[in-house]
Amino acid sequence: MGKRFYITTAIDYTNGAPHLGHAYEKVVTDVIARAHRAMGEEVFFVTGLDEHGQKVQQAAAAEGKDPMTYCDELALQWLALAKDLGLSNDDFIRTTEARHKAVVHAILSKLHASGDLYSQPYQGWYSVKEETFLTEKDRNPNGSWDPKWGQVIPLTEENWYFRMARHQDWLVAHIEANPSFIAPACRRNEVLGFLRSEKLADLCISRPASRLSWGIPLPFAPDWVTYVWFDALTNYVTVAADHGDPAVLHPLGLPAPASPMAQPPLALWPADIHVIGKDIIKFHAVYWPIMLHAAGLPLPLQILTHGWWQKDGQKLSKSTGNVVDPIAVIRDWGLDAFRYYVLRELAIGPDGNWTDEGFQSRYNAELANGLGNLLNRAVNMLNKYRDGIVPAPSDELAPDASRAVENTSQLLRQNDLQGALVAIWDLVSRANLYVEQTQPFKLAKDSAQAPRLDQVLYNLVESCRILAILLAPFLPDTSRRILGQLGIPAPAHPHVWPLTAWGGLQRGHKVAAPQPLFPRKDLKPMA
Ligand code: ME8
Ligand code: MG
Repeated sequence: MGKRFYITTAIDYTNGAPHLGHAYEKVVTDVIARAHRAMGEEVFFVTGLDEHGQKVQQAAAAEGKDPMTYCDELALQWLALAKDLGLSNDDFIRTTEARHKAVVHAILSKLHASGDLYSQPYQGWYSVKEETFLTEKDRNPNGSWDPKWGQVIPLTEENWYFRMARHQDWLVAHIEANPSFIAPACRRNEVLGFLRSEKLADLCISRPASRLSWGIPLPFAPDWVTYVWFDALTNYVTVAADHGDPAVLHPLGLPAPASPMAQPPLALWPADIHVIGKDIIKFHAVYWPIMLHAAGLPLPLQILTHGWWQKDGQKLSKSTGNVVDPIAVIRDWGLDAFRYYVLRELAIGPDGNWTDEGFQSRYNAELANGLGNLLNRAVNMLNKYRDGIVPAPSDELAPDASRAVENTSQLLRQNDLQGALVAIWDLVSRANLYVEQTQPFKLAKDSAQAPRLDQVLYNLVESCRILAILLAPFLPDTSRRILGQLGIPAPAHPHVWPLTAWGGLQRGHKVAAPQPLFPRKDLKPMA
């Protein structure tokens, strides 16, 4: 049982409909998962929903629904999003599932038994919106509370705490010794700066069930439910446990699950990459490693942190209507147009800005006129001049193709998805330039140039074939459609990278009819 490459997204709160930011994170993670599969690895990719806690309880109450009904309804929308985004996830976790509760209980019981948890009364200020107690340090200089905290109320209550400070030096040493643990580097520095300058307070991991009933009861104190973040982070090991992974089952003392999901057992943990947004880095790079360490579980290898999207330079916000509805964009422009824009526009790290103009201009310039036009010309001319029959191999563009393959592979290994797309489009541009330089439509008029035309046509269709393989992780549907037009059946398994070698198209192979990949569209206001 070889360990799989295990990659996760953040699990989204079921307190509203999905938006651009959620869709972006899922697409990024899907591309990394598909890239690892393409390069020959066995991969396990999981995404899902964070369904407990005050935010969800309040959102359900606002609609007059009990939380479970509310979550079940919303979950359908989120599952539909995963499908609409073409995600290749292997599992989808909801924190309201029984399999999850069992693992949360196992971790809490283990930490309770080892003395990592204690209970204590606490009096303080509480942000209802952020579900967190605030300290005097959180106040503005003038004594007021920042609007980001929403309603702030005084609260006294007994709660359970997780001793975190005792693990602080260990965590700093771990981050220092593992430079790629937190990526990109600026986020790592941010976390290290925080850990070196502030002593960690113990983490309150419970909420009294009287105040918040929508959560997982503490196994040793059922009048309290588990703090939603402690519950949510655990999802990453729940999935491993549920698939029978001994690396999670043994340290937690859990029996092998009877579920058919665990047949055969998979080796998943530790996660190779947790993909998350910048706002939740402290939870993933500080709380989560300490939870795992205290529970005797190995740490994930990397926390990969992306930036936040705005639209037209403003925060995404339902109340002001400044939103991008990924489903509407996909309906109007196609899934791969959406995937392409978000991946090409924004590197993993900085913040991004969606503009409809930018989206449409990339669509027309890079997808329709760049890639689409290249494929169309190549397949069209081969049909027109050679009855669709591939001529003898020729390798004039082979060095350009192999440079694109090498660069793409290397950039993918660094999770530089934007850079990889640039490298792929270098080949698109090179091949389009080759058409301008060789003028096959002129060669076709002169029968003495027939051998030269054969060469040009071979180089064009073979470049398109290699582009289809390189694009498979990014634009899976486009990749299949390119292969389809080239008369090549969809690959039988996902490990397609060896097919990037030049010379795959054989003399005598027949291509299919050309069809526009990305129909040109006039610029117009978007829905
Ligand atoms: O934080 N741009 O859930 P969530 C980019 N349930 N990414 C964005 C974004 C934006 N404008 N807005 C949100 C939670 N995200 C927790 C996670 S994980 C154990 C629990 C990202 O629904 C955000 O950064 O508020 C996060 O990674 C993800 O969407 C889910 O956000
Ligand atoms: Mg959020």
